[in-house]
Amino acid sequence: MKDKLDELFQKKEEAKLGGGEQKIKSQHDKGKLTARERIELLVDEGSFEEIGMFVKHRAKDFGLDKQNYPGDGVVTGFAKIDGRPVALFSQDFTVFGGSLSETHSEKIVKIMKLAMKAGIPIIGLNDSGGARIQEGVSSLGGYADIFLLNTLASGVVPQISVILGPCAGGAVYSPAITDFIFMTRKTSHMFVTGPNVVKTVTHEDVTFEELGGADTHGQKSGVAHFVYNNEIETLLNVRKLLSYIPSNYKERPTQIEVDSRFSLENSKLREILPDNPNKPYDMKEVILNLVDEESFFEVHKDYAENIICGFARLAGMSVGIVANQPQVLAGVLDINASVKSARFVRFCDAFNIPLLVLVDVPGFLPGTEQEWNGIIRHGAKLLFAFSEATVPKVTLITRKAYGGAYDVMNSKHIRGDYNFAWPTAEIAVMGPKGAVEIIFKKEIESSENPEQELELKLNEYIEKFANPYIAAERGFLDDIIDPMDTKKILINAFELLKNKVDSNPSKKHNNIPL
Ligand code: HXC
Repeated sequence: MKDKLDELFQKKEEAKLGGGEQKIKSQHDKGKLTARERIELLVDEGSFEEIGMFVKHRAKDFGLDKQNYPGDGVVTGFAKIDGRPVALFSQDFTVFGGSLSETHSEKIVKIMKLAMKAGIPIIGLNDSGGARIQEGVSSLGGYADIFLLNTLASGVVPQISVILGPCAGGAVYSPAITDFIFMTRKTSHMFVTGPNVVKTVTHEDVTFEELGGADTHGQKSGVAHFVYNNEIETLLNVRKLLSYIPSNYKERPTQIEVDSRFSLENSKLREILPDNPNKPYDMKEVILNLVDEESFFEVHKDYAENIICGFARLAGMSVGIVANQPQVLAGVLDINASVKSARFVRFCDAFNIPLLVLVDVPGFLPGTEQEWNGIIRHGAKLLFAFSEATVPKVTLITRKAYGGAYDVMNSKHIRGDYNFAWPTAEIAVMGPKGAVEIIFKKEIESSENPEQELELKLNEYIEKFANPYIAAERGFLDDIIDPMDTKKILINAFELLKNKVDSNPSKKHNNIPL
């Protein structure tokens, strides 16, 4: 037995070295950790159970028969994060640059299938030169097998992609199908075609970082949901994200214990809104004063900042927050904001995370740029996402809710369960100035003093419409509340809705305007 065990231990030690000491050193020299070091940082200590450690590729061409490393460039297995099981794969750049072979993909597919059966999240740590060139179409087939599994697993278990090195060509489409993408500054890159091809085709000079670095995707393209400065920070925040979400679509997020002595009244909430309704304020201040301390975890922090999306806790309950940000573009809805928030709403709905919607929106952004790029079709995504969502949905209108944007932002009409407003709310077809200039055009033009007439009509309109009372009279709002009591009221609403059951008509699947 001893001999057999020694042989086993020796083989395992060999496998753990991946491409060997020299390659590990080169990985460290690039400021990157190895596949196994990353797993150690990500999961609960000692919880990783590896599978497929002895898998080797079967290729023979281009000298591959003489180069074969156990594990074949990807470490796969199961572990625990905060005591909850997860499936994970971690590509090993020290073996053929982490490139994906037929067997490498089989290992990933294997854990994905098991994760779906077990109902546990899938986390992929990506660091790869793409399809293993020597294996040709076999590796392309391997990618397609993963893409299919990503698609089938979507909405069944959460899928998280962490990009910690190159991720290029068709390889980007696996992370793109998953629910969240994390990137690390300077060491991770994603693009469909690299700088050299770009130069040939479009004659543009662009660096790796500019084309597909973490900040590019965190700020410009919206491909990355989370961007951090180094691998350690990145991996710790993957753990944090998981704390808000359940393991599969049948479960609910874990509710954490909170100190029951905390005060539910918060007078600061009375002071955030400026007296002048046209002045901006920071909606994040409202959020931070509403949710449990240090619980707000923002998604897409630097992308489409005119809308805020993120997870938080209210009395320990996990909620997804969607909020207009009056401080950026006056909180207007544009293409990027609509797409960003629609995807977030759909994630929350898929995984039973209640939605809290904070509204201060002057409408949709006008202009040819928006119209020609399809604000109609993209804005419809958010409307569709809120309309189809069956999780508990609570709305608070803090100030403006104008036009179509009023309907879109989880209004009562699209199944908002609880719709509240602060007394500062203004709910109407359009803002006072635009409205008065249309409906009183003749009176103003024919008046001896047009400016005075405009002022008069404006005051009339503001008194009549720029308030929440008409909406409350119609039952479109359930209550108009003192900002100070908001936290208590929201907690009560979400507690009441805990066992909410709602459904959509039977169908094969819906047809969201893509
Ligand atoms: C086989 C690969 C490889 C690949 C890298 N290596 N990529 N081997 N197939 N795709 C090997 C290298 O030969 C090298 O082996 C080792 O990995 C490390 O690579 P380096 O080039 O030394 O590292 P670095 O300088 O950090 O550059 C990393 C890199 C570069 C930017 C990823 O290697 C690169 O450009 N690779 C090719 C990327 C690519 O074009 N892939 C195909 C994309 S298309 P040795 O033995 O010398 O250490 C694609 C299609 C997917 O993936 C389609 C899905 C539908």
